[in-house]
Formats: sequence, structure tokens, C-alpha cells
Amino acid sequence: MTQPALAKPTAAPAVAPDAILALNNIEVVYDHVILVLKGVSLHVPRGGIVAILGANGAGKTTTLKAISNLLRAERGDVTKGSVVFEGSAVQALSPDALVKRGCIQVMEGRHCFGHLSIEENLLTGAFTRRDGAAAIRADLERVYGYFPRLKERRAAMAGYTSGGEQQMCAIGRALMSRPKLILLDEPSMGLAPQIVEEIFAIVQDLNVREQVSFLLAEQNTHMALKYAGYGYVLENGRVVLDGAAAELTANEDVKEFYLGLAEGGRKSFRDGKHYKRRKRWLT
Ligand SMILES: Nc1ncnc2c1ncn2[C@@H]1O[C@H](COP(=O)(O)OP(=O)(O)O)[C@@H](O)[C@H]1O
Ligand SMILES: [Mg+2]
Repeated sequence: MTQPALAKPTAAPAVAPDAILALNNIEVVYDHVILVLKGVSLHVPRGGIVAILGANGAGKTTTLKAISNLLRAERGDVTKGSVVFEGSAVQALSPDALVKRGCIQVMEGRHCFGHLSIEENLLTGAFTRRDGAAAIRADLERVYGYFPRLKERRAAMAGYTSGGEQQMCAIGRALMSRPKLILLDEPSMGLAPQIVEEIFAIVQDLNVREQVSFLLAEQNTHMALKYAGYGYVLENGRVVLDGAAAELTANEDVKEFYLGLAEGGRKSFRDGKHYKRRKRWLT
């Protein structure tokens, strides 16, 4: 008689059963020929904050757009693999249909309508909703609760607000669709460190109090790992390293190449040594 499986450690499932999002071996090609993502797998646990880290051009935005189905507008295609949101494959859905299901992207470069007021911008985020003006109004107040600066600036034309306010507006606008998962592309880009801290603190607050999950693309490794629970390092369209935020922060390669903490100063990613190290990551 064999013992029941209890005594034996069983292999961990490839994807945690509590994942709100799973990418399985995604390949993305632009213009039918340019292979950019070469088999990316990752998952976001429900209620988690997960970071995709990597230098400019690594494929972070492409990964987010492969999820939100915004690739097609860029002549990009997912040619292999699957994207599973809340247990179902979503590649065939339009971006709007995905927003209705609760997955929305906040684009890099804080896209706001410059000629509309902050409040009008926020209200455009409710366009997929059919639950009436009162519910939308209540959510607007909820957004203002998280972003008091937006409340102060509600009547200002978005185009005349600061970069930080525009980033807040872009996140607030996404919140108006009542998302379960926000794909947040480089929220720190071009912003002063203090504003970045303020925005990340709000992201954390939303995560804790509203249970919104986040998949965050960032070049700002230090800031991202401070708030994320888990990270994936993307390089040249591949995940070269992943781990809990604390593990990544302590990792010598991450310190050297992404946190700039190497002895003797910062080294280039293109440093030959890096590729030797990368092999080590891959084994
Ligand atoms: N629309 C496109 N057509 C062709 N190549 C693209 C397109 N968008 C991005 N790329 C290429 O894909 C690679 C990854 O880009 P991207 O996903 O924007 O990286 P990241 O967000 O990490 O900076 C880069 O080499 C970039 O030049
Ligand atoms: Mg990008």
C-alpha cells in the first residue's frame, strides 16, 4: 500500500490557482516579421502587485498591450501562447470587452484629453458602464477620495495640469471602469521622485482597500520593488529572472544592473559580463 500523497511534497502548479491573470508562453510579432516577445510567461495573483522590470526596449509595453489587446492598433499580433484573465482565454476579446470584464490598461505617457477638464477626463473612464449616473457620480467621489489633488483641480483643463496630476488623472480615469486588474505602464516616467512616491502610495492604497490587482511596467526598479510583491525582469523579450520583491532587491545582478548599486558605479546593461550572468539566470 502506498501512503496518500500527503507525505510527499507535490510539484507546485505552473500557475497558482488564485491568479487573476496568467500569460503562458506569449510570443508577439510586429508587422508580421519583427519578433519582440519570445515566450513570456507570468502571473498576477488576485489582489497582488506584480512588476515587470527592464530597460527601455525590453518589451514591457508590448507585454501589457498583448494582455489588453491594444497590440492590433500597432500592427502587432500574439502569435503563440495564451492570455488567461479570471480563468478564461481573452485574446479574442476587444479592448472594450476586456475593460467590461475588469482589465484595463493605463498607457505610458499618461494619456489624458488635454482640452477636457480633469473631471470630464475621469467621466470618460465610465464609458463602458451601464449602471447609471448616480453610481458613476459615487465612483467619481471615490476617486477624489484617493486623489484629493484631482478634486482640487477638477475644473482645470487637463492639458494645463502638472505631469503628476495627469498621471493621477489617467489612473483615476481607469478606476472609473471599476477594474479588478490595472495594467500600469511606467507611471514614474518623467516625474519627480516625491510625486512618484505619492502615486505609488495611492496604488498601494487602492490595492489594499479596493482589492485592485496591478501589473506594473517600470524602469524604475527601486520604486517598483518597494511596492510590488513580485517581479519579473524582462530583457530582449524574455523573462531572465523572477522572484519575490525582497529576493530581487537582494539579488546581486539586479543590484548591479537595475539598481545601480554595483561597487565602482553603475554598469551598462550591454556590458559583456551581463550576458554571462544572464546564462546563470537561465539555468
Ligand atoms: N509598433 C511597433 N512596431 C515595431 N516594433 C515595435 C513596435 N512597438 C515596439 N516595438 C519594438 O519592440 C521592442 C519592445 O518595445 P516595448 O515593448 O515598447 O519596450 P519597453 O516598453 O520595455 O520599452 C523594441 O525593440 C521596440 O522597438
Ligand atoms: Mg514601454
